[in-house]
Amino acid sequence: MSTLIRGGTLVSAEQTWVADILCVDGKIAAVGPSLEAPTGATIIDAGGQYVMPGGIDPHTHMQLPFMGTVASEDFYTGTAAAMAGGTTSIIDFVIPDPEQSILDAYKTWRGWAEKSAADYGFHVAITWWDESVRADMGTLVREEGINSFKHFMAYKGAIMADDELLYNSFTRSLELGAMPTVHAENGELVFQLQKKLIEEGITGPEGHPLSRPPAAEGEAANRALRFAEVIGVPLYIVHVSTSDALDEIKRAKAAGQRVYGEVLAGHLMIDESVYQNPDWDTAAAHVMSPPFRSPEHQAALWKGLQGGALQTTATDHCCFCADQKGMGKDNFAQIPNGTAGVEDRMSVLWTHGVGTGRLTMNEFVAATSANAAKIFNIYPRKGSLQIGADADLVIWDPAATKTISVKTHHQNVDYNIFEGMPVTGLASHTFSRGELTWVDGDLRAVKGAGKYIKRPAFSADFEALARQIAK
Ligand code: URP
Ligand code: ZN
Ligand code: ZN
Repeated sequence: MSTLIRGGTLVSAEQTWVADILCVDGKIAAVGPSLEAPTGATIIDAGGQYVMPGGIDPHTHMQLPFMGTVASEDFYTGTAAAMAGGTTSIIDFVIPDPEQSILDAYKTWRGWAEKSAADYGFHVAITWWDESVRADMGTLVREEGINSFKHFMAYKGAIMADDELLYNSFTRSLELGAMPTVHAENGELVFQLQKKLIEEGITGPEGHPLSRPPAAEGEAANRALRFAEVIGVPLYIVHVSTSDALDEIKRAKAAGQRVYGEVLAGHLMIDESVYQNPDWDTAAAHVMSPPFRSPEHQAALWKGLQGGALQTTATDHCCFCADQKGMGKDNFAQIPNGTAGVEDRMSVLWTHGVGTGRLTMNEFVAATSANAAKIFNIYPRKGSLQIGADADLVIWDPAATKTISVKTHHQNVDYNIFEGMPVTGLASHTFSRGELTWVDGDLRAVKGAGKYIKRPAFSADFEALARQIAK
């Protein structure tokens, strides 16, 4: 099966140039001027538009069982919505219950993801520790293509990683050549503040940001970075939402640490005033962690992205409908945490990044796909326009406009945090390994067409090396 994309302006993380792209059997087969169309090839005219690598969202939670309910978006609906916005791959999270075998949990998530329309990989959360977890981390890296392990420093009493767990898992990650990642918030501080606020009678969504102050994020980011520094392992911090955490990243980078920061489209665009909305449902719809912050933090995050201290953009797509959010009607700490965005990330970032001059088009590609592919070791198969890469592509119409709305989005959730936001720059065509999945408003995503992406470790065998050194 071949497709020739003609007359577009190609935009990669490195360069911008006018060329055709020929896709054959799911791969990019040729890139150049005036390419010949093979017999039977589909020809797509991309004149006046940009052709870029499809987006990679490195942080999603499809159908996550969380806080007593299950996220409303499954792997099919969520990845189909992603395609409508130009995102062609996701990296989701396996989150084992404490004491649950991490291999069993991994197999469960692999089963759920079989209906995915887009290609997908997994970070695996380390939520508890014993020798079986240590051994299973090795199996996941060597046999299953997992190269990143997640640590939730928040969510006390559920999945929180304490310092001992961080030490054990970071050390094991180093042995295996895997990347530790953290949700950086001091879970004890959050827990105590939640208790105090509830006792004081603050039970609504306005209590949520009060219980998760910026300092709680800064402290956890610093602690995780210091552990990484002492252990000598790289670190990826998910959903950086404050200048407090950003400053810690900058300090660690300046000291020579290999550290990466991710920012969410939501944290860039939405501020904490949403929690003051007198309509409970609307305020609760924005409850996610870390919470939306003040405009000063948002400005710092944009600068972090522009200046390179933050490398990736994600959504933390984790959908809960109003009836699910209602579980926390009497206690904000019981509102399921999470918001959507996988469909809107690319257009929001184009509009407010490229459209405002904050990002060049090449920086946009770096921030929406190439950097995630490089950090998680799937570049240039994903996130590039190189010959031999997967033909995950988006044809981007820079003149197309829409107003984001729950009424028209494809996400399986009854609220959109970007509701009413006008965007300029939209995916006109999305290709997943050469197959058209979105054509001018026609969603053709195919249930089960997505493939699991194995991600190799960052070294051949760090563990063998470590054993040798220990002898
Ligand atoms: O509120 C959020 N972010 N929910 C999903 C779990 C997490 O912390 O990433
Ligand atoms: Zn998180
Ligand atoms: Zn998350």
